[in-house]
Amino acid sequence: MRNMRCAAVCVAVCALAVAGFADGEGKSLKDAFKGRFFVGAAVNPRVYRNASSPEARLAAREFNTITAENDMKPQSLQPVEGKFRWDAADRFVAFGETNGMKVVGHCLVWHQQTPDWFFRSDDGGPVTREKALERMLAHISAVVGRYKGRVKGWDVVNEAFDDGGRLRRTPWMRAIGPDYIEHAFRYAHAADPEAELYYNDFNMFAPGKRAAVVRLVRRLKEAGVKIDGVGMQSHVALNRPNLADYEASIVAFAAEGVKVMITELDVSVLPAAWGLSAEVSRSHDYDEKFNPWKNGVLPDEMQQRLARRYEELFRIYLKHADSIDRVTFWGVADGMSWLNNFPVRGRTDYPLLFDRSLRPKPCAAAVLRLAEAASGDATGQKKSDQSNK
Ligand code: GLA
Repeated sequence: MRNMRCAAVCVAVCALAVAGFADGEGKSLKDAFKGRFFVGAAVNPRVYRNASSPEARLAAREFNTITAENDMKPQSLQPVEGKFRWDAADRFVAFGETNGMKVVGHCLVWHQQTPDWFFRSDDGGPVTREKALERMLAHISAVVGRYKGRVKGWDVVNEAFDDGGRLRRTPWMRAIGPDYIEHAFRYAHAADPEAELYYNDFNMFAPGKRAAVVRLVRRLKEAGVKIDGVGMQSHVALNRPNLADYEASIVAFAAEGVKVMITELDVSVLPAAWGLSAEVSRSHDYDEKFNPWKNGVLPDEMQQRLARRYEELFRIYLKHADSIDRVTFWGVADGMSWLNNFPVRGRTDYPLLFDRSLRPKPCAAAVLRLAEAASGDATGQKKSDQSNK
């Protein structure tokens, strides 16, 4: 009972905190950061299958760039060799175009959500290097070719390095060797010479990974291979990563002359039972004590902590707005976040700016306040050639 009263008070306090720009009033995120960077979200069919749904209206109002959460991954597009399924991806791209958004494709070459057939020969053994390259070329040409001129940028390779900076022994790496990355970028460029091409990874704050990505960018450029941006996924938490390390990576990538993209931002508020790693391939058993706010209401004190964390992050983004092209959240609202099921199934997390009823949270208000404050600061203004953002 006491808990219920606390929850009710908290809902009222939170509602007051966000009053003024809920339900379409006030400035949207995309307008608040206009001239600095695009603001986006990863979206799924709940957003783009029905343009008049609340989720679709919220996404259209708040964001000027979208990324496909799952529908452009190899497993979704080519579950069986040569048999492409385009329906969902077509709808995703059309939704972005209808709403005047920068459409981002995610992702062409990754070791997860990629069917096994890519890496198996006809007799069931490991695929040869030639065959793996042939399949990579066929996949990239078909996918990038289909959306040529419409998808403005692609995550070409996702998660190739471990935190220490070594190339991970992924199936692509084992089949082709370290030059698989370069081939992927070349194939993508050939399929759409105008599209921007990105390398994307998690834990980009890790010094070893940072150095490896810097070396990769240099190597690709020296070899005459087009790379336009580095994506820092940014699945973060209230107490990790260390923001000095994180900021150092933004600075290091920008110094290589590529655009920095914050590509999968979310801030988990739940206890990290599994340690500090954000390794996305490891899951854990459910345990009550790691799911403290399961009724869908986050206590005010936690809302404030989350707001402060988002403020810290956006302070950094504003400081480096000249280098940062976009900030994309991994999801539109808390109820749709992957973090509710990962790395532990069935938890209730609160990582995004909009709650389960699609209402802006105190962290949204905090981020908008920062943008407002920055827009009064002439030194924060971006160059006019970027004012289309
Ligand atoms: C990684 C991938 C994304 C997504 C998220 C979590 O970061 O790049 O496509 O799968 O994990 O869902």
